[in-house]
Amino acid sequence: MVTNHTANGEYEQAWLSYELIGDEALRAKHAAVCARLEVRGMGAELTSARLELRRALAGLLGRLPAEVSADEESGAQEPAGPAIVVGLADAVRAERPAAAGEAGFPDNGSLGDEGYAIWSGADGSVYLLGGGARGALYAAFGFIRLLQTGAELSELRIVERPAYPLRMIDHWDNADGTIERGYAGGSLFFEAGRLGGRIGRIRDYARLQASIGINAVAINNVNVHDEETRLLAGDRLADVARVADVLREYGIALYLSVNFAAPIELGGLATADPLAPAVAAWWGDTTAEVCRRIPGFGGYVVKADSEHRPGPFTYGRDHADGANMLADALAPFGGTVVWRCFVYNCRQDWRDRRTDRARAAYDHFMPLDGAFRDNVVLQIKHGPMDFQVREPVSPLLLGLRRTQIALELQITQEYTGQQRHLCYLLPMWKEVLDFDAGAGVTVADAAGGAGAGQNAADGQGEAGNEEEAPGGHDGTGVGENAARGKRVWRGGLAAVSNVGTDANWTGHLLAQANWYGFGRLAWDPSASAEAIGREWIRMALGSDANVEETVITMLLDSHAIYESYTAPLGVGWMVNPDHHYGPNVDGYEYSPWGTYHYADRDGIGVDRTVATGTGYAGQYPAAAAMYESPDTCPDELLLFFHHVPYDRRLKSGKTVIQHIYDSRFEGAERAAGLLASWDGIADRLPPRVYEEVRTRLAHQAEHALEWRDQLNSYFYRKSGIPDALGRTIY
Ligand code: GCU
Repeated sequence: MVTNHTANGEYEQAWLSYELIGDEALRAKHAAVCARLEVRGMGAELTSARLELRRALAGLLGRLPAEVSADEESGAQEPAGPAIVVGLADAVRAERPAAAGEAGFPDNGSLGDEGYAIWSGADGSVYLLGGGARGALYAAFGFIRLLQTGAELSELRIVERPAYPLRMIDHWDNADGTIERGYAGGSLFFEAGRLGGRIGRIRDYARLQASIGINAVAINNVNVHDEETRLLAGDRLADVARVADVLREYGIALYLSVNFAAPIELGGLATADPLAPAVAAWWGDTTAEVCRRIPGFGGYVVKADSEHRPGPFTYGRDHADGANMLADALAPFGGTVVWRCFVYNCRQDWRDRRTDRARAAYDHFMPLDGAFRDNVVLQIKHGPMDFQVREPVSPLLLGLRRTQIALELQITQEYTGQQRHLCYLLPMWKEVLDFDAGAGVTVADAAGGAGAGQNAADGQGEAGNEEEAPGGHDGTGVGENAARGKRVWRGGLAAVSNVGTDANWTGHLLAQANWYGFGRLAWDPSASAEAIGREWIRMALGSDANVEETVITMLLDSHAIYESYTAPLGVGWMVNPDHHYGPNVDGYEYSPWGTYHYADRDGIGVDRTVATGTGYAGQYPAAAAMYESPDTCPDELLLFFHHVPYDRRLKSGKTVIQHIYDSRFEGAERAAGLLASWDGIADRLPPRVYEEVRTRLAHQAEHALEWRDQLNSYFYRKSGIPDALGRTIY
């Protein structure tokens, strides 16, 4: 059990807190294996690997390893005695011929730049090998994870390659230090008037990210205001470069969100037309300077023509024109444009039932499939609306065939309880990743993860794509996309960050599991929500089996619980406008945002069928027929696709209205159950951890009653149909 984590002053070390392993026998066993540390080779990532291993071993085992001397290192002879040997596979092979002679000993080529191996040699050493330097760093973190989770350290034959080349976290941080949709304090990067002041904490942040395989971080909000527009030049760029230097030590490429109108606002041009030569030249020069100041610069994230942000539509151009112009500016430096597909009409007339926001991304981007440069990635939200607790999978993820894509998830819990409610998001993300895109291809495959699940303990995993992607990301370790054919692949997974300056990083301590889990899934989408959750618990909360069983059950139940008191049968948006917290059934009903449930006295739901509705159901290549009919549409999405009477029977046998009542009562009861479960392990937790989480769970239990009563009362008053069980409805 952790005693806790304030190792670094005023904030905690989350899952890298490295508390002393309590079990003495285990500690002694590990200590024997970890007595010596040899890092072979130079460079920032290897240095980070070395420092991390020293720190972890000192913490977990209570003693620092002896390190190989410089003489030994330069000598051709093999050093005496077993050690933890870290380095690039080929370099280690050359220096350790005896071990390297073993069958299957990894080499750089088979691992790929980001892949790694953890290998027990016949000489008693454990080899932490990367195909490239970043891989070696991941090997170090992988090994530390084994120590933290109580694994055996013998006969290790672990070979891992990431499923996706792009594993990205997007911050919605503003220059004034606030975070849009942030629920864990202020920005780590920005303070009012200053960027990069907390370099020590940013380094710890980078360690946490690297430990879960994140290799790309966009530091500023997709809504780019005046101040952030200026990050591209001058002193502010110098500050950005300092942050980038720290991230680079951990193999992370820095990205900037940019304002499409920057040529006007920053460059003084009269236009931002992507086809105007002066505009392209401005971006070319600006980008060259950014890349000169920031080696390995990742690229740009762009929200264009969306929610009042400028974009190519102003000039009668399309999104391929806009994205490609920026891509051309970045191409000489190996940078990538991450172009968001969250484009819809946010000034809709609520009276207009033909316009359907759910259709928008597909309608805008499908006609452009194949029109984007190789260094453009389209970033697509997992559902067609906006990170609701229940949405169908975005059909655009399934439709695009000739364009590189990144699935966009939201770790920050904007619509899922804002880190005041417990909502472990991995079960939902897994449903998205496992969704059948047709022809046996899942969404996970479509985002570039063919070969996902190939990570093998026997070293027999699929060889990566040998084709090198230029610059920012390496294309190695990525299988060929079944649906697309071979190309330089840059796609992957991206997610909106949930971290801030709160001591525990995420506000709700248990929300750390969503951050941790996102990285682990982006590495291997075939991993289960349960396995990842258990890992996080052991690393962050310690090895008490009772704590692990209780917390994993809480985590795994939490999404279903949250859904059951908030959003019935696929209807979302019943929240207070603007801040999006707490129940308000009609909060978005008569608004311009395209977010309606159409409840009246007879029924509820949005008709999105092809036959009589908005036609959205027709955007699915394989699932269109299933969604089109209320008889085959899954219950949990019924009201997303259909407008039905309250007394319609669900597959569960209940009527729609009875389901609404029952699930709200049950959800609120189960929310109280989360608190009771936590109270049951009170004496097994550090008091501060216990109290901190308890306060949030107690609020959640209270707030779930508010959700229950407001929604039940609303629908009872609309429908006039009483609860079959006669419970109190107001
Ligand atoms: C949501 C969110 C906004 C955000 C937007 C986006 O609408 O509420 O704050 O800017 O998504 O993804 O761009």
